[in-house]
Amino acid sequence: MHSITTYAPGKLMLMGEHSVVYDLPCLVTAVDHRMKVTVRKTDDNKLTLHAPDVGVIDYQCAISDLTLNTPKPAQFVEYGVRNFFQTFKVTSGLHITSQSDFSSKFGFGSSSAITVATIKGLSELFDIHLTNKELFDLSYKTVLDIQGKGSGFDVAAAIYGGTLYFVTGGKVIEPIKVSKLPLIVGYTGIKADTTTLINKIQMKLENDPLSITTLFDDITLLVEQGKKALINSNMKLLGNLFTNNQLLLSKLGVSSPELDKLNKAVQEAGAYGAKLSGAGGGDCMIALSPPDKELEVSEAIKLAGGTHIPITTNSDGVRVE
Ligand code: MEV
Repeated sequence: MHSITTYAPGKLMLMGEHSVVYDLPCLVTAVDHRMKVTVRKTDDNKLTLHAPDVGVIDYQCAISDLTLNTPKPAQFVEYGVRNFFQTFKVTSGLHITSQSDFSSKFGFGSSSAITVATIKGLSELFDIHLTNKELFDLSYKTVLDIQGKGSGFDVAAAIYGGTLYFVTGGKVIEPIKVSKLPLIVGYTGIKADTTTLINKIQMKLENDPLSITTLFDDITLLVEQGKKALINSNMKLLGNLFTNNQLLLSKLGVSSPELDKLNKAVQEAGAYGAKLSGAGGGDCMIALSPPDKELEVSEAIKLAGGTHIPITTNSDGVRVE
C-alpha cells in the first residue's frame, strides 16, 4: 500500500532553558540529526510499530485500544495517532516504522521529532492539510499528554527548522535569519531527565519566588541580547552571553560537575564561551569559538572526558520525502 516518509530534525537549546517554561522567550536551533518515520495504512485495524532505535520491535495493539498499555518509547507515536484520529474523525489500521540518526540519550529532542514526523506523515496519508501552527498545536498537545510539562520549543524546532526565537506554547515562533552558527557540542555521557529537572525548578519557584523570578528575568535579558548577536552574526558576543547564561543556570541549580568540567575545559582552550544546553543535570554543553581554535576546543571536550558530537545547526524543519 501507499506509504509516506517524513523527516524531522532534532534541536539544541541555545539560551533561555527553564525560564521558557514560564511564559518567557528562548533561542533554539534545529540540528541535522534527523528522525525518519514511514507510515502506511493497513486493513487489519491494528497499529504495528517498528522503532528499533528506541527499543520497540514489531509492537502491536488494536486501533481501538490506543494508549492503554503502551511502552514508553512508543507513546509519542501512539498518542500522536490517537490525537490525529480524534481531531480529524478518521481511522485505519496503520504500519509505522521509525529510524533515527541520533541517539535518544543526547537530549537532541528525539521525542518531539518522532511526534512531529508521525503527525506530519498522517496528515499526508489522510490528505488533510495542516498549517505549521496546526501541526505545532497537535504535536505539542501530544507531547504534553505524555510528559505533562514543557514549553514546546523542541516541537517548534522540529517543525519550522532553522533558528527560532520562541515563547512558551508557541505564543511567538519567530524565525531568525542566521548566516552562521558554528556550535561545538560536547556530550557529558550522562542522561538527564527533563521532567525531574522541570519539577525541581517548579518547587524552587514555589519556595522562593523572588530569587527564581529574578534569575528568570536576568536570563531573559541575555536571550534578547543573544537574539541581536545572532542576527548580527556576532559569535564572540553570543559566546560571552552563553557563559553569562551558564552562570545563571548554575545559580538555578541545574548544572552538574560534568557540565562544569567541559565548560571550563573549552574556555581554557580558547572558546568565546560555553553553557549547558537543555534541562541540565547532564546531556550536552555547547560552545562557540574563534574559527582557528575550533579543533583545540573539540579536543578539549574529549580530554575532559566528554564526547565531541559533530553537528550542523540551522537545519531544515520537517519535510516529506
Ligand atoms: C529542556 O530541554 C528545556 C526546558 O526549558 C524544558 C522545556 O522548555 O520544555 C528545561
